Amino acid sequence: MSLCHHPHLPLENILLPSYNTARCVMQAMSADSGLLYICGCVEEQECNDKLIFYNQSNGYSLLHSREAVPVAAISLLPPLLLALTVTGLFYLYRTHRLRKRPESWLERAAHNVPLQSRRPGHDFCRLSSSLMSASQCNISTARANSINHNTELLPIELDHRVGKGRFAEVWRAKLKHTESGHYEMVAVKIFPAQEYSSWKNESGVFTDANLKHDNVLQFITMEERGSCLHKEYWIITAYHARGNLKDYLSRHLLSWTSLLDMAGSIVSGVAHLHSDYTPCGAPKVAIAHRDIKSSNILVKSDSECALCDFGIALRLDPALTADDFANSGQVGTARYMAPEVLESRVNLEDMESFKQMDVYSLALVLWEMVSRCEAIGEVRNYELPFGSMVRERPCVETMRDVVLHGRGRPDIPDSWRRHPGLDILCDTIIECWDHDPEARLTAHCVAERFIIMRQTDCEDGSRNTNSLFNSGQY
Ligand code: ADE
Repeated sequence: MSLCHHPHLPLENILLPSYNTARCVMQAMSADSGLLYICGCVEEQECNDKLIFYNQSNGYSLLHSREAVPVAAISLLPPLLLALTVTGLFYLYRTHRLRKRPESWLERAAHNVPLQSRRPGHDFCRLSSSLMSASQCNISTARANSINHNTELLPIELDHRVGKGRFAEVWRAKLKHTESGHYEMVAVKIFPAQEYSSWKNESGVFTDANLKHDNVLQFITMEERGSCLHKEYWIITAYHARGNLKDYLSRHLLSWTSLLDMAGSIVSGVAHLHSDYTPCGAPKVAIAHRDIKSSNILVKSDSECALCDFGIALRLDPALTADDFANSGQVGTARYMAPEVLESRVNLEDMESFKQMDVYSLALVLWEMVSRCEAIGEVRNYELPFGSMVRERPCVETMRDVVLHGRGRPDIPDSWRRHPGLDILCDTIIECWDHDPEARLTAHCVAERFIIMRQTDCEDGSRNTNSLFNSGQY
Protein backbone atom coordinates (compact mmCIF):
# COMPACT_ATOMS: atom_id res chain seq x y z
CA MET A 1 0.00 0.00 0.00
CA SER A 2 1.43 3.42 -0.72
CA LEU A 3 0.34 6.95 -0.10
CA CYS A 4 2.18 9.57 -2.03
CA HIS A 5 2.89 12.30 0.51
CA HIS A 6 5.90 14.44 1.22
CA PRO A 7 6.89 13.60 4.85
CA HIS A 8 7.96 17.20 5.57
CA LEU A 9 4.50 18.51 4.86
CA PRO A 10 1.62 18.15 7.35
CA LEU A 11 -1.13 15.64 6.68
CA GLU A 12 -4.46 16.68 8.23
CA ASN A 13 -2.45 19.41 10.00
CA ILE A 14 -0.13 16.78 11.53
CA LEU A 15 3.56 16.38 10.83
CA LEU A 16 4.70 12.78 10.66
CA PRO A 17 6.62 12.09 13.90
CA SER A 18 8.92 9.45 12.38
CA TYR A 19 9.16 7.90 8.96
CA ASN A 20 12.78 6.77 8.66
CA THR A 21 11.99 3.20 9.61
CA ALA A 22 11.38 -0.03 7.75
CA ARG A 23 8.15 -0.73 9.62
CA CYS A 24 4.94 1.24 9.79
CA VAL A 25 4.33 1.72 13.53
CA MET A 26 1.02 3.48 14.11
CA GLN A 27 0.98 6.42 16.49
CA ALA A 28 -2.01 8.16 17.96
CA MET A 29 -2.00 11.91 17.15
CA SER A 30 -4.58 14.60 17.74
CA ALA A 31 -5.95 15.99 14.55
CA ASP A 32 -8.66 18.59 13.83
CA SER A 33 -11.14 15.80 13.33
CA GLY A 34 -10.20 13.95 16.55
CA LEU A 35 -7.77 11.13 17.30
CA LEU A 36 -5.85 9.95 14.23
CA TYR A 37 -3.54 6.95 13.88
CA ILE A 38 -0.72 7.63 11.49
CA CYS A 39 2.58 6.04 10.43
CA GLY A 40 5.24 6.35 7.75
CA CYS A 41 8.13 4.21 6.48
CA VAL A 42 10.67 4.43 3.73
CA GLU A 43 12.53 1.12 3.34
CA GLU A 44 10.51 -1.05 0.94
CA GLN A 45 7.94 -0.06 -1.59
CA GLU A 46 5.12 -1.74 0.38
CA CYS A 47 6.63 -1.30 3.86
CA ASN A 48 3.20 -0.24 5.24
CA ASP A 49 1.70 -3.55 4.12
CA LYS A 50 1.73 -4.44 7.82
CA LEU A 51 0.33 -1.81 10.19
CA ILE A 52 1.65 -2.28 13.68
CA PHE A 53 -0.46 -1.09 16.60
CA TYR A 54 1.18 -1.11 19.96
CA ASN A 55 -1.42 -1.20 22.64
CA GLN A 56 -0.14 0.85 25.52
CA SER A 57 -1.85 -1.17 28.22
CA ASN A 58 -0.95 -4.72 27.20
CA GLY A 59 1.24 -4.31 24.20
CA TYR A 60 -0.58 -6.67 21.78
CA SER A 61 -0.59 -5.95 18.07
CA LEU A 62 -3.27 -6.23 15.43
CA LEU A 63 -2.44 -7.44 12.00
CA HIS A 64 -3.46 -5.74 8.87
CA SER A 65 -6.95 -6.69 7.56
CA ARG A 66 -5.51 -8.74 4.69
CA GLU A 67 -4.34 -11.29 7.28
CA ALA A 68 -7.32 -10.91 9.60
CA VAL A 69 -9.83 -11.98 6.89
CA PRO A 70 -8.59 -15.56 6.43
CA VAL A 71 -8.16 -15.96 10.19
CA ALA A 72 -11.75 -14.83 10.81
CA ALA A 73 -13.05 -17.04 7.99
CA ILE A 74 -11.34 -20.13 9.37
CA SER A 75 -12.56 -19.53 12.91
CA LEU A 76 -16.20 -18.83 11.82
CA LEU A 77 -16.50 -21.81 9.51
CA PRO A 78 -17.20 -24.58 12.10
CA PRO A 79 -20.05 -22.77 13.93
CA LEU A 80 -21.51 -21.77 10.54
CA LEU A 81 -21.50 -25.39 9.35
CA LEU A 82 -23.01 -26.55 12.63
CA ALA A 83 -25.83 -24.00 12.39
CA LEU A 84 -26.57 -25.05 8.80
CA THR A 85 -26.69 -28.74 9.78
CA VAL A 86 -29.03 -28.12 12.73
CA THR A 87 -31.37 -25.97 10.58
CA GLY A 88 -31.41 -28.64 7.87
CA LEU A 89 -32.19 -31.43 10.35
CA PHE A 90 -34.94 -29.37 12.00
CA TYR A 91 -36.52 -28.63 8.61
CA LEU A 92 -36.48 -32.35 7.69
CA TYR A 93 -38.05 -33.28 11.05
CA ARG A 94 -40.82 -30.72 10.64
CA THR A 95 -41.72 -31.65 7.07
CA HIS A 96 -41.74 -35.35 8.05
CA ARG A 97 -44.11 -34.70 10.96
CA LEU A 98 -46.44 -32.58 8.84
CA ARG A 99 -46.67 -35.37 6.24
CA LYS A 100 -47.25 -38.05 8.89
CA ARG A 101 -50.13 -36.38 10.77
CA PRO A 102 -52.66 -34.34 8.79
CA GLU A 103 -53.38 -31.29 10.92
CA SER A 104 -56.81 -31.05 12.46
CA TRP A 105 -58.39 -27.78 13.49
CA LEU A 106 -59.87 -29.49 16.51
CA GLU A 107 -56.60 -31.03 17.54
CA ARG A 108 -54.95 -27.67 17.16
CA ALA A 109 -57.63 -25.98 19.23
CA ALA A 110 -57.40 -28.79 21.79
CA HIS A 111 -53.66 -28.35 21.97
CA ASN A 112 -54.10 -24.64 22.19
CA VAL A 113 -52.18 -23.72 19.10
CA PRO A 114 -53.23 -20.29 17.83
CA LEU A 115 -55.30 -21.02 14.74
CA GLN A 116 -53.49 -18.73 12.38
CA SER A 117 -50.18 -20.40 13.02
CA ARG A 118 -49.57 -23.71 11.33
CA ARG A 119 -46.94 -25.10 13.61
CA PRO A 120 -47.48 -28.58 15.03
CA GLY A 121 -45.98 -29.60 18.34
CA HIS A 122 -46.30 -27.53 21.50
CA ASP A 123 -45.27 -28.10 25.06
CA PHE A 124 -47.95 -29.00 27.54
CA CYS A 125 -47.95 -29.48 31.22
CA ARG A 126 -49.05 -32.99 32.12
CA LEU A 127 -49.73 -33.43 35.79
CA SER A 128 -52.20 -35.72 37.47
CA SER A 129 -54.95 -35.03 39.92
CA SER A 130 -56.97 -37.32 42.16
CA LEU A 131 -60.33 -36.47 40.61
CA MET A 132 -59.42 -35.75 37.02
CA SER A 133 -57.91 -38.05 34.46
CA ALA A 134 -54.41 -37.33 33.17
CA SER A 135 -55.80 -36.26 29.80
CA GLN A 136 -57.75 -33.52 31.54
CA CYS A 137 -54.48 -32.10 32.71
CA ASN A 138 -53.29 -31.71 29.15
CA ILE A 139 -53.39 -27.97 29.23
CA SER A 140 -51.10 -25.45 27.66
CA THR A 141 -49.23 -23.25 30.04
CA ALA A 142 -50.41 -20.23 28.10
CA ARG A 143 -54.12 -20.49 27.33
CA ALA A 144 -56.59 -23.31 27.52
CA ASN A 145 -58.91 -22.44 24.70
CA SER A 146 -57.87 -21.18 21.37
CA ILE A 147 -58.91 -17.93 19.74
CA ASN A 148 -58.42 -17.05 16.12
CA HIS A 149 -56.31 -13.92 16.46
CA ASN A 150 -56.35 -13.68 12.70
CA THR A 151 -58.99 -11.64 10.96
CA GLU A 152 -59.10 -14.35 8.28
CA LEU A 153 -62.26 -16.46 8.51
CA LEU A 154 -62.04 -20.25 8.66
CA PRO A 155 -62.94 -22.16 5.48
CA ILE A 156 -66.37 -23.41 6.61
CA GLU A 157 -69.30 -24.78 4.65
CA LEU A 158 -72.59 -24.97 6.56
CA ASP A 159 -74.38 -28.32 6.20
CA HIS A 160 -77.67 -28.29 8.06
CA ARG A 161 -79.23 -26.96 11.25
CA VAL A 162 -79.03 -29.29 14.25
CA GLY A 163 -80.50 -27.11 16.95
CA LYS A 164 -82.19 -23.84 17.80
CA GLY A 165 -82.00 -22.12 21.16
CA ARG A 166 -83.16 -18.87 22.70
CA PHE A 167 -80.28 -16.84 21.32
CA ALA A 168 -78.80 -18.77 18.44
CA GLU A 169 -79.01 -21.63 15.96
CA VAL A 170 -76.52 -24.50 15.82
CA TRP A 171 -75.40 -25.88 12.47
CA ARG A 172 -73.37 -28.89 11.50
CA ALA A 173 -70.62 -27.70 9.16
CA LYS A 174 -67.55 -28.82 7.26
CA LEU A 175 -64.26 -27.20 8.18
CA LYS A 176 -61.81 -27.68 5.34
CA HIS A 177 -58.13 -28.44 5.68
CA THR A 178 -56.69 -26.04 3.17
CA GLU A 179 -53.69 -28.13 2.12
CA SER A 180 -55.05 -31.67 1.93
CA GLY A 181 -58.62 -31.00 0.74
CA HIS A 182 -59.94 -33.05 3.70
CA TYR A 183 -62.50 -31.65 6.09
CA GLU A 184 -63.76 -32.29 9.59
CA MET A 185 -67.23 -31.84 11.03
CA VAL A 186 -67.66 -28.93 13.40
CA ALA A 187 -70.62 -27.20 15.03
CA VAL A 188 -71.28 -23.54 14.28
CA LYS A 189 -73.43 -21.59 16.68
CA ILE A 190 -74.82 -18.60 14.80
CA PHE A 191 -76.05 -15.58 16.75
CA PRO A 192 -78.05 -12.87 14.94
CA ALA A 193 -76.78 -9.28 15.38
CA GLN A 194 -79.27 -8.54 18.17
CA GLU A 195 -77.84 -11.39 20.28
CA TYR A 196 -74.34 -9.90 20.22
CA SER A 197 -74.13 -9.78 24.03
CA SER A 198 -74.93 -13.48 24.34
CA TRP A 199 -72.21 -14.28 21.74
CA LYS A 200 -69.80 -12.02 23.59
CA ASN A 201 -70.59 -13.65 26.92
CA GLU A 202 -70.28 -17.20 25.62
CA SER A 203 -67.06 -16.39 23.73
CA GLY A 204 -65.69 -14.71 26.84
CA VAL A 205 -66.31 -17.86 28.89
CA PHE A 206 -64.85 -20.16 26.23
CA THR A 207 -61.72 -18.08 25.72
CA ASP A 208 -61.10 -17.66 29.40
CA ALA A 209 -57.80 -19.17 30.39
CA ASN A 210 -57.91 -22.75 31.57
CA LEU A 211 -61.53 -23.62 30.78
CA LYS A 212 -60.53 -26.51 28.55
CA HIS A 213 -61.74 -29.86 29.85
CA ASP A 214 -62.84 -33.19 28.36
CA ASN A 215 -66.35 -32.58 29.68
CA VAL A 216 -66.71 -29.02 28.45
CA LEU A 217 -67.50 -28.60 24.74
CA GLN A 218 -64.26 -28.04 22.81
CA PHE A 219 -64.08 -24.49 21.51
CA ILE A 220 -62.33 -23.80 18.18
CA THR A 221 -62.84 -20.13 17.52
CA MET A 222 -65.20 -17.16 17.44
CA GLU A 223 -65.88 -15.05 14.36
CA GLU A 224 -67.77 -11.98 13.18
CA ARG A 225 -69.29 -12.64 9.76
CA GLY A 226 -71.33 -10.75 7.18
CA SER A 227 -71.61 -7.11 6.21
CA CYS A 228 -72.80 -4.10 8.19
CA LEU A 229 -76.31 -4.71 6.89
CA HIS A 230 -76.41 -8.35 7.88
CA LYS A 231 -73.99 -9.17 10.65
CA GLU A 232 -73.74 -12.59 12.26
CA TYR A 233 -71.66 -13.78 15.17
CA TRP A 234 -70.30 -17.32 15.14
CA ILE A 235 -68.85 -19.69 17.70
CA ILE A 236 -67.17 -22.73 16.18
CA THR A 237 -66.81 -25.85 18.33
CA ALA A 238 -66.42 -29.62 18.15
CA TYR A 239 -69.37 -31.47 16.65
CA HIS A 240 -70.95 -34.42 18.47
CA ALA A 241 -73.10 -36.54 16.18
CA ARG A 242 -75.02 -38.19 19.07
CA GLY A 243 -76.66 -34.84 19.85
CA ASN A 244 -77.91 -33.66 23.22
CA LEU A 245 -78.60 -35.78 26.30
CA LYS A 246 -82.34 -35.05 26.33
CA ASP A 247 -82.84 -36.50 22.83
CA TYR A 248 -80.40 -39.33 23.57
CA LEU A 249 -82.28 -40.40 26.73
CA SER A 250 -85.57 -40.33 24.86
CA ARG A 251 -84.17 -42.97 22.46
CA HIS A 252 -81.72 -44.97 24.60
CA LEU A 253 -81.64 -46.84 27.89
CA LEU A 254 -78.47 -46.66 29.95
CA SER A 255 -76.65 -49.59 31.52
CA TRP A 256 -75.42 -49.02 35.09
CA THR A 257 -71.87 -48.66 33.74
CA SER A 258 -72.94 -46.14 31.09
CA LEU A 259 -74.89 -44.20 33.70
CA LEU A 260 -71.88 -44.10 36.01
CA ASP A 261 -69.54 -43.00 33.22
CA MET A 262 -71.82 -40.47 31.53
CA ALA A 263 -73.22 -38.95 34.72
CA GLY A 264 -69.73 -39.00 36.29
CA SER A 265 -68.37 -37.09 33.29
CA ILE A 266 -71.10 -34.44 33.56
CA VAL A 267 -70.35 -34.02 37.26
CA SER A 268 -66.62 -33.70 36.46
CA GLY A 269 -67.45 -30.99 33.91
CA VAL A 270 -69.51 -29.02 36.44
CA ALA A 271 -66.86 -29.50 39.16
CA HIS A 272 -64.27 -28.15 36.72
CA LEU A 273 -66.41 -25.10 35.86
CA HIS A 274 -66.96 -24.35 39.55
CA SER A 275 -63.36 -24.88 40.52
CA ASP A 276 -60.80 -22.14 41.18
CA TYR A 277 -58.10 -24.48 39.86
CA THR A 278 -57.43 -26.52 36.76
CA PRO A 279 -56.62 -30.23 37.12
CA CYS A 280 -52.99 -29.07 36.76
CA GLY A 281 -53.36 -26.86 39.82
CA ALA A 282 -53.16 -23.57 37.90
CA PRO A 283 -55.54 -20.87 39.15
CA LYS A 284 -58.68 -20.27 37.07
CA VAL A 285 -61.84 -18.18 37.38
CA ALA A 286 -64.78 -20.24 38.64
CA ILE A 287 -67.78 -20.23 36.31
CA ALA A 288 -71.45 -20.81 37.07
CA HIS A 289 -73.32 -22.27 34.09
CA ARG A 290 -76.79 -21.12 35.20
CA ASP A 291 -78.67 -23.15 32.57
CA ILE A 292 -77.76 -26.76 33.30
CA LYS A 293 -80.33 -29.08 31.71
CA SER A 294 -80.25 -32.24 29.62
CA SER A 295 -80.59 -30.30 26.34
CA ASN A 296 -77.44 -28.30 27.22
CA ILE A 297 -75.35 -31.45 27.57
CA LEU A 298 -73.88 -33.19 24.52
CA VAL A 299 -73.27 -36.93 24.27
CA LYS A 300 -69.71 -37.58 23.10
CA SER A 301 -69.88 -41.38 23.40
CA ASP A 302 -71.83 -43.96 25.40
CA SER A 303 -69.54 -43.20 28.29
CA GLU A 304 -68.88 -39.47 28.09
CA CYS A 305 -70.72 -36.15 27.87
CA ALA A 306 -69.74 -32.48 27.55
CA LEU A 307 -71.43 -29.34 28.86
CA CYS A 308 -72.38 -26.75 26.27
CA ASP A 309 -74.29 -23.46 25.89
CA PHE A 310 -72.55 -20.89 28.01
CA GLY A 311 -74.79 -18.05 26.78
CA ILE A 312 -75.77 -16.97 30.31
CA ALA A 313 -72.82 -18.41 32.21
CA LEU A 314 -71.30 -16.16 34.85
CA ARG A 315 -67.62 -15.68 35.60
CA LEU A 316 -67.32 -15.68 39.38
CA ASP A 317 -64.43 -13.27 39.42
CA PRO A 318 -63.47 -12.59 43.08
CA ALA A 319 -62.97 -8.92 42.16
CA LEU A 320 -66.71 -8.55 41.42
CA THR A 321 -69.14 -7.37 44.10
CA ALA A 322 -72.84 -7.98 44.81
CA ASP A 323 -73.59 -4.84 42.71
CA ASP A 324 -72.00 -6.47 39.67
CA PHE A 325 -74.33 -9.45 40.13
CA ALA A 326 -77.39 -7.25 40.72
CA ASN A 327 -79.11 -8.32 37.48
CA SER A 328 -78.07 -11.94 37.81
CA GLY A 329 -81.12 -13.11 39.75
CA GLN A 330 -83.71 -15.03 37.76
CA VAL A 331 -82.12 -16.54 34.67
CA GLY A 332 -82.16 -20.02 33.15
CA THR A 333 -84.96 -22.43 32.31
CA ALA A 334 -87.92 -22.38 34.72
CA ARG A 335 -88.21 -26.20 34.90
CA TYR A 336 -84.64 -26.48 36.22
CA MET A 337 -84.67 -23.39 38.48
CA ALA A 338 -83.72 -23.85 42.12
CA PRO A 339 -86.30 -22.75 44.74
CA GLU A 340 -84.25 -19.69 45.76
CA VAL A 341 -84.09 -18.60 42.09
CA LEU A 342 -87.86 -19.07 41.66
CA GLU A 343 -88.31 -17.00 44.80
CA SER A 344 -85.73 -14.37 43.72
CA ARG A 345 -83.94 -14.83 47.03
CA VAL A 346 -80.44 -15.53 45.83
CA ASN A 347 -77.67 -14.41 48.16
CA LEU A 348 -75.70 -12.22 45.73
CA GLU A 349 -73.13 -11.49 48.42
CA ASP A 350 -71.87 -15.06 48.22
CA MET A 351 -70.61 -16.39 44.89
CA GLU A 352 -71.17 -19.94 46.16
CA SER A 353 -74.91 -19.24 45.67
CA PHE A 354 -74.47 -19.47 41.90
CA LYS A 355 -72.75 -22.83 42.22
CA GLN A 356 -75.51 -24.09 44.54
CA MET A 357 -78.12 -23.23 41.88
CA ASP A 358 -76.16 -25.27 39.32
CA VAL A 359 -76.02 -28.23 41.72
CA TYR A 360 -79.83 -28.18 42.05
CA SER A 361 -80.22 -28.31 38.23
CA LEU A 362 -77.53 -31.01 38.04
CA ALA A 363 -79.58 -33.14 40.47
CA LEU A 364 -82.57 -33.00 38.07
CA VAL A 365 -80.33 -34.11 35.17
CA LEU A 366 -78.98 -37.01 37.26
CA TRP A 367 -82.56 -38.00 38.08
CA GLU A 368 -83.42 -37.99 34.33
CA MET A 369 -80.50 -40.31 33.67
CA VAL A 370 -81.37 -42.70 36.51
CA SER A 371 -84.98 -42.83 35.28
CA ARG A 372 -83.61 -44.30 32.00
CA CYS A 373 -81.20 -46.77 33.55
CA GLU A 374 -81.84 -50.51 33.17
CA ALA A 375 -80.64 -51.07 36.75
CA ILE A 376 -83.79 -49.47 38.27
CA GLY A 377 -85.96 -52.37 37.08
CA GLU A 378 -88.92 -51.41 34.96
CA VAL A 379 -87.95 -48.35 32.91
CA ARG A 380 -90.72 -46.04 31.78
CA ASN A 381 -90.83 -43.78 28.74
CA TYR A 382 -88.52 -40.82 28.98
CA GLU A 383 -89.93 -37.80 30.81
CA LEU A 384 -88.36 -34.48 31.72
CA PRO A 385 -88.22 -33.73 35.46
CA PHE A 386 -91.69 -32.69 36.71
CA GLY A 387 -92.95 -33.99 33.34
CA SER A 388 -96.11 -35.42 34.87
CA MET A 389 -96.79 -32.32 36.98
CA VAL A 390 -96.38 -29.42 34.54
CA ARG A 391 -96.95 -28.76 30.87
CA GLU A 392 -94.30 -28.59 28.14
CA ARG A 393 -92.79 -25.17 28.84
CA PRO A 394 -93.71 -24.29 32.39
CA CYS A 395 -93.41 -20.67 33.41
CA VAL A 396 -91.72 -19.43 36.57
CA GLU A 397 -95.07 -19.07 38.41
CA THR A 398 -96.00 -22.71 37.74
CA MET A 399 -92.61 -23.96 38.91
CA ARG A 400 -92.86 -21.72 41.98
CA ASP A 401 -96.12 -23.48 42.96
CA VAL A 402 -94.61 -26.93 42.48
CA VAL A 403 -91.05 -26.54 43.76
CA LEU A 404 -91.24 -23.66 46.22
CA HIS A 405 -94.68 -23.84 47.81
CA GLY A 406 -95.37 -27.54 47.24
CA ARG A 407 -91.73 -28.56 47.91
CA GLY A 408 -92.18 -30.94 44.99
CA ARG A 409 -89.30 -32.99 43.55
CA PRO A 410 -89.25 -35.78 40.95
CA ASP A 411 -90.24 -39.17 42.35
CA ILE A 412 -87.59 -41.66 43.48
CA PRO A 413 -89.35 -45.03 43.93
CA ASP A 414 -87.98 -47.49 46.53
CA SER A 415 -87.41 -50.01 43.72
CA TRP A 416 -84.56 -47.81 42.42
CA ARG A 417 -82.66 -48.39 45.65
CA ARG A 418 -82.29 -52.17 45.32
CA HIS A 419 -79.07 -51.63 43.42
CA PRO A 420 -76.32 -50.66 45.92
CA GLY A 421 -74.71 -48.11 43.61
CA LEU A 422 -78.07 -46.58 42.68
CA ASP A 423 -78.95 -46.34 46.36
CA ILE A 424 -75.95 -44.03 46.86
CA LEU A 425 -76.80 -42.11 43.69
CA CYS A 426 -80.40 -41.53 44.87
CA ASP A 427 -79.14 -40.21 48.22
CA THR A 428 -76.70 -37.97 46.35
CA ILE A 429 -79.47 -36.58 44.13
CA ILE A 430 -81.65 -35.82 47.17
CA GLU A 431 -78.77 -33.98 48.84
CA CYS A 432 -78.20 -31.96 45.68
CA TRP A 433 -81.79 -30.71 45.34
CA ASP A 434 -82.14 -29.76 49.00
CA HIS A 435 -84.43 -26.77 49.56
CA ASP A 436 -81.65 -25.10 51.53
CA PRO A 437 -78.92 -24.11 49.05
CA GLU A 438 -76.25 -24.25 51.77
CA ALA A 439 -77.16 -27.86 52.58
CA ARG A 440 -76.52 -29.03 49.01
CA LEU A 441 -73.42 -31.00 48.13
CA THR A 442 -70.75 -29.23 46.09
CA ALA A 443 -70.07 -30.52 42.57
CA HIS A 444 -66.65 -31.57 43.78
CA CYS A 445 -68.20 -33.67 46.51
CA VAL A 446 -70.61 -35.26 43.99
CA ALA A 447 -67.57 -36.16 41.85
CA GLU A 448 -66.12 -37.95 44.88
CA ARG A 449 -69.41 -39.80 45.38
CA PHE A 450 -69.04 -41.13 41.84
CA ILE A 451 -65.66 -42.54 42.74
CA ILE A 452 -67.31 -44.34 45.66
CA MET A 453 -70.12 -45.62 43.44
CA ARG A 454 -67.56 -47.13 41.10
CA GLN A 455 -66.14 -48.99 44.07
CA THR A 456 -69.55 -50.47 44.95
CA ASP A 457 -69.34 -52.46 41.73
CA CYS A 458 -67.06 -54.89 43.58
CA GLU A 459 -67.94 -56.37 46.95
CA ASP A 460 -64.95 -54.93 48.75
CA GLY A 461 -65.79 -51.52 47.36
CA SER A 462 -69.25 -51.80 48.83
CA ARG A 463 -67.80 -52.43 52.30
CA ASN A 464 -65.44 -49.45 51.89
CA THR A 465 -68.38 -47.27 50.98
CA ASN A 466 -70.27 -48.23 54.12
CA SER A 467 -67.27 -47.59 56.30
CA LEU A 468 -66.71 -44.21 54.66
CA PHE A 469 -70.31 -43.21 55.26
CA ASN A 470 -70.27 -44.53 58.82
CA SER A 471 -67.12 -42.56 59.55
CA GLY A 472 -69.05 -39.44 58.53
CA GLN A 473 -66.44 -38.54 55.97
CA TYR A 474 -69.15 -37.82 53.37
N1 ADE B 1 -76.04 -29.12 19.31
C1 ADE B 1 -75.56 -28.04 19.92
N2 ADE B 1 -74.23 -28.04 19.89
C2 ADE B 1 -73.86 -29.15 19.24
C3 ADE B 1 -72.61 -29.73 18.92
N3 ADE B 1 -71.50 -29.12 19.24
N4 ADE B 1 -72.58 -30.90 18.29
C4 ADE B 1 -73.73 -31.50 17.98
N5 ADE B 1 -74.93 -31.02 18.24
C5 ADE B 1 -75.01 -29.86 18.89
